[in-house]
Amino acid sequence: MKPNISAIVAVTIDGKIARHSGHFTDWTSPEDKTFLRSLLDKSDAVVIGNNTYKTAAGPLSKRNCIVFTRTVHDTERRGSNLLYYNADGPSSIGVILESYRAIALLGGTQVYSYFLEHDLIDDLYLTIEPVVFGEGLDIFKCKNEATVNFHLTAVKKLNDKGTVLLHYRRPS
Ligand SMILES: NC(=O)c1ccc[n+]([C@@H]2O[C@H](COP(=O)([O-])OP(=O)(O)OC[C@H]3O[C@@H](n4cnc5c(N)ncnc54)[C@H](OP(=O)(O)O)[C@@H]3O)[C@@H](O)[C@H]2O)c1
Repeated sequence: MKPNISAIVAVTIDGKIARHSGHFTDWTSPEDKTFLRSLLDKSDAVVIGNNTYKTAAGPLSKRNCIVFTRTVHDTERRGSNLLYYNADGPSSIGVILESYRAIALLGGTQVYSYFLEHDLIDDLYLTIEPVVFGEGLDIFKCKNEATVNFHLTAVKKLNDKGTVLLHYRRPS
């Protein structure tokens, strides 16, 4: 059975997820970090791109991680809870994810885009932090021009500073 896949994203007011590929996400609010942890606790695996993983391997070390990388041909297990996976290799993403129930998709841009292009995102949790970078990485950068629709199901203000959490779902 296909797991439920939730993309979890923090963005600036100008829609950026980072200044550059190696930028650690240290600019989000404590309230968003609490929300992120609670969603990770409800997930049985994390999917993440290698650029993001390199910035966050420590905090994720106790979680089941599937790391997208082209440095392996297919899949390579590196410990009991760490799997390196090449989505351009022979194993389909469906087979890789089928043993899980709830997946937290942690990005970054390349991996969010891969999941959007393959119509694999069920839920999108978008936290807007009241900051502006003026430059940086977008959430998605897709090759095709198809419009993808989501429904807004919840809006929550997380703090007095004005951090807002939006929950979108793909229409079934
Ligand atoms: N604000 C937020 O919520 C948030 C969330 C996530 C990430 N970020 C930020 O986003 C930045 C990283 O984003 P990014 O787009 O540069 O990188 P990314 O998506 O984290 O990782 C890209 C890497 O994933 C691998 N990859 C991509 N597509 C693949 C495919 N089809 N098959 C196999 N491997 C594939 C490649 O790894 P190899 O080079 O090893 O082959 C590629 O270099 C970081 O600064 C991070 O902090 C922010």
